[in-house]
Amino acid sequence: MKNKIYIETYGCQMNFADTELVQGILHNNGYTISKDIDGADVILLNTCSVRDNAEQKIHSRLDHLKGIKNKRPETVIGILGCMAERLRKSLIEEKKIVDVVVGPDEYRRLPELLDVAFGGEKGIGVKLSRTETYDDIAPYREDGLNAWISVMRGCDKFCTFCVVPFTRGRERSRSLDSIVLEVKQLSERGFKEVTLLGQNVNSYNDNGKDFADLLASCAIVDRSVRIRFTTSHPQDLSDKLLYTIAENPNICNYIHLPVQSGSDRILRLMNRTYTIEHYLNLIDKARKIIPGVSFSTDIISGFPTETMEDHLMTLDIMQKVRYDGAYMFKYSPREGTKAYNMKDDVPDEVKSKRLNEIIELQQTISHEINQTLIGTEEIVLVEGNSKKSDKFFAGRTDTNKVVVFPKVDNVGEGDYVTIKINRATSATLFGEFVDKINIF
Ligand code: SAH
Ligand code: SF4
Ligand code: F3S
Repeated sequence: MKNKIYIETYGCQMNFADTELVQGILHNNGYTISKDIDGADVILLNTCSVRDNAEQKIHSRLDHLKGIKNKRPETVIGILGCMAERLRKSLIEEKKIVDVVVGPDEYRRLPELLDVAFGGEKGIGVKLSRTETYDDIAPYREDGLNAWISVMRGCDKFCTFCVVPFTRGRERSRSLDSIVLEVKQLSERGFKEVTLLGQNVNSYNDNGKDFADLLASCAIVDRSVRIRFTTSHPQDLSDKLLYTIAENPNICNYIHLPVQSGSDRILRLMNRTYTIEHYLNLIDKARKIIPGVSFSTDIISGFPTETMEDHLMTLDIMQKVRYDGAYMFKYSPREGTKAYNMKDDVPDEVKSKRLNEIIELQQTISHEINQTLIGTEEIVLVEGNSKKSDKFFAGRTDTNKVVVFPKVDNVGEGDYVTIKINRATSATLFGEFVDKINIF
């Protein structure tokens, strides 16, 4: 029987969460999930379209998979996710080795479409839906500490640079009750951290229950389970949400709040719908309501018409906010978006130069912030061995900083410990064990 599935995931956390849904759907239909590409009957790539280089990666991966297809022509190769939605049929026409193309809202049809492919035809499912949330599908998750839950799908913001509203369709929310039930089940299985996901979680809405309500309901399930969330849009982040974070000890004091640019003119062209003044007020307010809250951001360099002055404003807001971390990108024109019709007039070498300045500044700031933590005691959830040595554990603070410390007896994965920080780089804190903590 042809039932071994192997799946690779690219792109954002939502894609990783979707992969678990896809595995859940296929597992329910008699497939086994394989971690090994050799011997797989079906090879699926869950893809990302957000920037051109994300798509290029998939193209070269497909070229590589040609070898497998030549050796074992009966292997079914499928493209899932955002690139499937964006390129649709053309993927099959241009890439002879692709048998199945399925967009983010048609995963329920995968078993049927795979059967079509096993029959020698091409299987395509790329309709977007206004209602699909996969609320009733149990994701296939291995045991672990961290779990993702997509609480909503799609995006209605239409930032002019962004392909996501086209690849993921309209915004819709899962029901609060089913999400809370999932958190309960995860807690019973020993998970210690749940990240609630959406392109803009602040517009979550289940019949009037908003994102703050959802966070609060998830947080009381089990106080020893940390609740994280991403992404917040600066326009929709409410006071109620800030108070909810402050009032619940297990909702992490960490907000990913992408600013994209420091220039109001560019923000307008991006259709981000906020000004820098509004953004800075929001940061101030959050810091008052949630003492010690940390922030990260996304920044794009070289959006159409971006001048040196605009770029300096981006460096300026980074200095004003002092983010703990940032994801930084060169602008990449995406067909179908509004910005695609604007001239991509910032030369690539200028984009790179500006991006490098942004990255350097962020490293300096992260380094400085982390230096101020030397001598403090931080609560850390132990996640496992550190990357570099099995004599050390690594874990994270509530503010999402990685902490490395020498192993001690009676401490293991999933424990909360207090660590005294005695050294720091821009990316990692190093310290020593002080105490083990029980959280009830
Ligand atoms: N919904 C989230 C993130 C979406 S994609 C949000 O609104 O923040 C993640 C990040 O990729 C974006 O925040 C943006 O910084 C970046 N991005 C999106 N489209 C891009 C493009 N065309 N070129 C470069 N970066 C892009
Ligand atoms: Fe894209 Fe903007 Fe939606 Fe984020 S909020 S997914 S950047 S359109
Ligand atoms: Fe990429 Fe789609 Fe996520 S475009 S960033 S995988 S929503």
